[in-house]
Amino acid sequence: ILFYCLTFILAYLIGSFPTGMLMGKLFFHKDIRKYGSGNIGTTNSFRVFGPVAGTIVLVIDVLKGALATDLPLIFHLPGPKYLLLVAGICAILGHTFSIFLKFKGGKAVATSAGVFLGYNLKFFGICAIVFLPILFITSYVSLSSLISIVIIFIVSFSFHDIFLTIISGIMMLLLFIRHKDNIKRLMHHKENIIPFGLWYWY
Ligand code: G3P
Repeated sequence: ILFYCLTFILAYLIGSFPTGMLMGKLFFHKDIRKYGSGNIGTTNSFRVFGPVAGTIVLVIDVLKGALATDLPLIFHLPGPKYLLLVAGICAILGHTFSIFLKFKGGKAVATSAGVFLGYNLKFFGICAIVFLPILFITSYVSLSSLISIVIIFIVSFSFHDIFLTIISGIMMLLLFIRHKDNIKRLMHHKENIIPFGLWYWY
């Protein structure tokens, strides 16, 4: 139990690592929270710092989720597989309520994807297959994230893994809560569009 508690705390700390924020401070001398959407995540990093920095933030934020989820395996902790998802949730909470950012943080899209990567590669692949075409059609990362998580939640039932479905449900809730400003902007046609995809070109 003690080892699991320590593992979950470590998972939270890994999730808390503010990649986008550090990217801005270290390489661009900018506080990302003051630019674009004000979010510290991948999308805003692309927007504010460009594709190279955005890709690095994406990769690190995904890996954060995957690493944290696999901590019980790395430490050879015995126990049921769902404890990996508990570690994953700790990382998502860390990313969203980071101890290094006064318990503020990102919207947890990339880190959630990382949790799926760490837990079940096939499921992660499906997430990518769902998300990328929707992004290509809509040109809105936020809208694509929200549509995708609903589809991913439904698809999770086909894996007959109740914990995967529960975690997908929790992520869906969290993503909708964290995207409430995006939803308002979408409804008022004021959401930031990405310069790519059918809707943008149209
Ligand atoms: O990566 C989160 C995305 O869904 C929305 O980001 O910066 O457009 O609010 P942003």
